[in-house]
Amino acid sequence: MVLTTEITEMLDIKHPIVAAPMGPFYTTKLTVAVSEAGGLGVLSHINLDNTVSTTEVIESMKYVVEHTDKPFGLNIRTASLQPDAIKLCRQVPRFILNNPRIKEQCNYIITSAGSPKMLFNKYYETLKNSTNLKHFHVIPSLDLAKKVVKDGVDGIVATGHEGGGHKSYDNTSTLILLQQIRKELPEVPVIASGGYATGEGLASALAMGAGAISMGTRLIASNECEFHDNYKNLVKSSTIADTKLVTGVFGPARVWRNKYADNHTTVVNKAEKRAEETSMDVIVQGVKKLEKAYRGNVDDGIVLLGQSCGLVNNVESVSNIINTIVDDAEECLKNAYNMIKVNQVLLENI
Ligand SMILES: Cc1cc2nc3c(=O)[nH]c(=O)nc-3n(C[C@H](O)[C@H](O)[C@H](O)COP(=O)(O)O)c2cc1C
Repeated sequence: MVLTTEITEMLDIKHPIVAAPMGPFYTTKLTVAVSEAGGLGVLSHINLDNTVSTTEVIESMKYVVEHTDKPFGLNIRTASLQPDAIKLCRQVPRFILNNPRIKEQCNYIITSAGSPKMLFNKYYETLKNSTNLKHFHVIPSLDLAKKVVKDGVDGIVATGHEGGGHKSYDNTSTLILLQQIRKELPEVPVIASGGYATGEGLASALAMGAGAISMGTRLIASNECEFHDNYKNLVKSSTIADTKLVTGVFGPARVWRNKYADNHTTVVNKAEKRAEETSMDVIVQGVKKLEKAYRGNVDDGIVLLGQSCGLVNNVESVSNIINTIVDDAEECLKNAYNMIKVNQVLLENI
């Protein structure tokens, strides 16, 4: 059985698994590995070492097409406080337009943390009209989903609060969000994100109408991921109770419990946090703490991590991870179907 869905067809991939963007870190080799394994690899919005993200993203795209001929995507965080977002929204589509190979392979842009409309400029429009590029936006709530669909995105990534990384102030789980979306926006292509790491998770997302899952935490614990081994090992040794929601760099964030997490309580006052966020210094210091963790200091840094770490107990190759999840999902769907039939027979015999 092959799990073909609206999303696998739209993105021209074999398996309904998309890599979640994990900026400000490099996920370039991870992107290659996920695309090669039949999922969709996604480049992150990179902001480490005070590097210029446009250069880094462009170099990463070049690297990807040198190492795979499969489709891939990229993320732009369009938050108003993201200093390079407008530049990326203009320069990346312009660069892709002038590079035939990248133009052919890069078929997915996922915007997040701000408005999808920041991407709408003449370079993007030209690119969109001349390729199969799809534009998805990350939404943590039904209201935002309705808004971005009106804005004209091709699909949404529905992400709940159990996932790793920065979260919205809406404390909605992926399970609730997906049900809301399927009821109110049944025609919209959806990728489910936040809490997925197993075949059971994939099977449940598909059963609820999502066309694919997107995973961050599970893919950190892979051989090909660029994160430090200390970060990867945390994923395999942690339990579900080892993460919590704290005040992150841009509002609430789900992180691994360490010194940083203990000293930063859960966000309670949105207005206060918003005021603090206007300080660039807070953001620069925050990114330094994220980078600390990425480079291996998981005791002092900010370790973005999702509850799904409690479902992972090994670090292995991306192809093993993806193949296992797909095989298990197929088994799970078959078992569920058979169980329903068995129950029907029982009912009929009563
Ligand atoms: C280390 C890390 C970094 C992240 N950075 C970003 C980012 O730059 N942009 C974004 O849209 N989401 C980011 N996220 C959120 C993920 O894209 C995704 O929503 C989340 O990982 C899904 O939940 P999971 O971790 O349970 O798979 C990040 C998550 C993690 C764990």
